[in-house]
Amino acid sequence: MLHVRKTGMALLLTLLTSQAALAADCAPEQVQKGEALFATDCGVCHSAKADGPTMMGPNLHGLYGRKSGSLAGFSYSQAMKTKGVEWQLDSLEQFITQPQSFVAGTYMPYVGMADADGRRAVGCFLSAQK
Ligand code: HEC
Repeated sequence: MLHVRKTGMALLLTLLTSQAALAADCAPEQVQKGEALFATDCGVCHSAKADGPTMMGPNLHGLYGRKSGSLAGFSYSQAMKTKGVEWQLDSLEQFITQPQSFVAGTYMPYVGMADADGRRAVGCFLSAQK
């Protein structure tokens, strides 16, 4: 009985650890969906590739866990710099819901993504770009 429990624990731990490689609760399908959405909605202004260019917006590679407005060499709005939020699923989702209301005065001219599943998917995709 004890043995069975231990095996169960080990399995659970393995599952948790492999999930932790991505952000919490991101399934591979969400990352894929997010990649497609990123291409249509964000890709005109952002690259998320490690050696990607700075476009109208900053490079978003390694964004997850980074503080807003902190990528060296990009000219952020004062609003983005003083926001000082750490980019995690929650903050990303809030930001792309309506950029101007989460960071009043941001230079990001994006109206917002209405679909909550889509926002989560984009967050999942970005959390995997590290
Ligand atoms: C029309 C161009 C444009 C589009 C489309 C756009 N962005 Fe941006 N984005 C910007 C600009 C410009 C900034 C810098 C904002 C500032 O300094 O206030 C920015 C900033 C950001 C930041 C903050 C980065 C940092 O280093 O703190 C995130 C996160 C972000 N964008 C995500 C997205 C996502 C996700 C999408 C798609 C859903 C998107 N953006 C669509 C132009 C764009």
